[in-house]
Amino acid sequence: MTLPKLRYATPEDMDQVFRWRNDPWLISESPGLSTVDWEEHVSWFSEVLDTESHQLFIIESEDGTGMGSVRLDKAGKDRAIITIYLLQPYVGKGCGSIAIKEACNTGFGLWPWMESVHAYVRKDNKPSIMAFSKAGFKVFPRKDDAIFILKELVLRKPKLLHE
Ligand SMILES: CC(C)(COP(=O)(O)OP(=O)(O)OC[C@H]1O[C@@H](n2cnc3c(N)ncnc32)[C@H](O)[C@@H]1OP(=O)(O)O)[C@@H](O)C(=O)NCCC(=O)NCCS
Repeated sequence: MTLPKLRYATPEDMDQVFRWRNDPWLISESPGLSTVDWEEHVSWFSEVLDTESHQLFIIESEDGTGMGSVRLDKAGKDRAIITIYLLQPYVGKGCGSIAIKEACNTGFGLWPWMESVHAYVRKDNKPSIMAFSKAGFKVFPRKDDAIFILKELVLRKPKLLHE
């Protein structure tokens, strides 16, 4: 298996991430997601490079080939939301769970205020639920679960990092 490596995105990644964002397979996997135009992308990308509120990582193979991206977004005073995608050739090989784990570990290090990371995944997205579970996420029980189309998973800050 190709071991995924993470690095923070830079302005040079803007074109590559634009192509990924409009990838037909990823759009088809994500109901509700539609293509974005270049202007929208430029504005969004400049914003997510600000590591006060976002941590955008590029997931690469050992030889530096781009495989996808994973992002943490500050959401409230002590939590973040995680979003991840891999391009189709790289899914189902164990890379997703490793990248999720590494992004969260790096995130806890950079953001001492972050107590938990939350993922919102469609209930029928089994690979994604599995990948988050393998990375240590637990299903977050919700009172409105029956009507909520997304499953919420949560990873709490490891105890050791509190000290
Ligand atoms: C979500 C995603 C990042 C997961 O990455 P991945 O590399 O495929 O995940 P992993 O291989 O680490 O783990 C997936 C697990 O699901 C399992 N799985 C795959 N398809 C499955 C299915 N239909 N039913 C049940 N389990 C399934 C795999 O076997 C694997 O478990 P295993 O290692 O125990 O065999 C990737 O599938 C992806 O990019 N999907 C499209 C975008 C997306 O849905 N993003 C999530 C929104 S936050």
